[in-house]
Amino acid sequence: MKGVILVGGSGSRLDPLTRVTNKHLLPIYDKPMVFYPIQALVNVGITDIMIVTGGNNAGDFLRLLGNGSDFGLKRLHYTYQDRPAGIAHALGLARDFAEGDSLLLMLGDNIIERNLLAARRNFDAQAQGARVILTRVENPSSYGVVEIEDNRITAITEKPDAPKSNLVQTGIYFYDERVFEIVANLKPSGRGELEITDVNNYYLHEGSLEYDVLEGFWADCGESFESYLDSQNLVARHGANKLSE
Ligand code: DAU
Repeated sequence: MKGVILVGGSGSRLDPLTRVTNKHLLPIYDKPMVFYPIQALVNVGITDIMIVTGGNNAGDFLRLLGNGSDFGLKRLHYTYQDRPAGIAHALGLARDFAEGDSLLLMLGDNIIERNLLAARRNFDAQAQGARVILTRVENPSSYGVVEIEDNRITAITEKPDAPKSNLVQTGIYFYDERVFEIVANLKPSGRGELEITDVNNYYLHEGSLEYDVLEGFWADCGESFESYLDSQNLVARHGANKLSE
């Protein structure tokens, strides 16, 4: 399995912190933000990762992460998204890198307290399809909201005004090798982006979308200044990427 981490986007919700640097280089307690998703992928045995960056600070990632040997990676690849055209668009840039393998996609501003070991085992046992990692939040309308009936996902709605549950998709997604074909056939949403929710809804309608609910805290550091501050306090108090199950 290969890993893809997205560190592009505009970071506008954290302006002016992001005016002269990339959001994912900002500190979260004692490390730059991007360290946390990399460690989460390393913790499930992924040694081949592509970083998709963008904007004006792409070179800083090379300076910070080098060849990935600090994380024990075999290979660390980089590519460049020339405009923030959506999460699914950024994922599409990793097509040649994936070489027909399955992959774990993680958004570069997501931090988890525990690990994805059980989720990886569950995905490996799946014949095909995708697996999304869910969590409960107090402000679901800022996220992709998930509805569940009889233990199956029945709907995912991106940032609805009237959310029907407090269960949301995090920025952690397992995909089979067909994901790039699905991305290639997406149409831009109302806000002009290729949406990851549309990818997940494709698998949902096919009947091959599974899920796990995360244990421990989940932090989206880029949603607001409050979430940025909360993320740091959570990491300082509880630690992140714990290996014990
Ligand atoms: O964090 C979980 C949420 O992530 C999900 O609940 C939503 O369903 C999903 O759409 C996404 O929502 P966000 O509003 O948080 O996405 P955002 O635009 O903030 O982008 C998330 C990350 O992806 C961010 O770290 C930057 C990266 N990104 C984003 C875009 C739009 C890119 O690398 N390129 C892009 O074009």
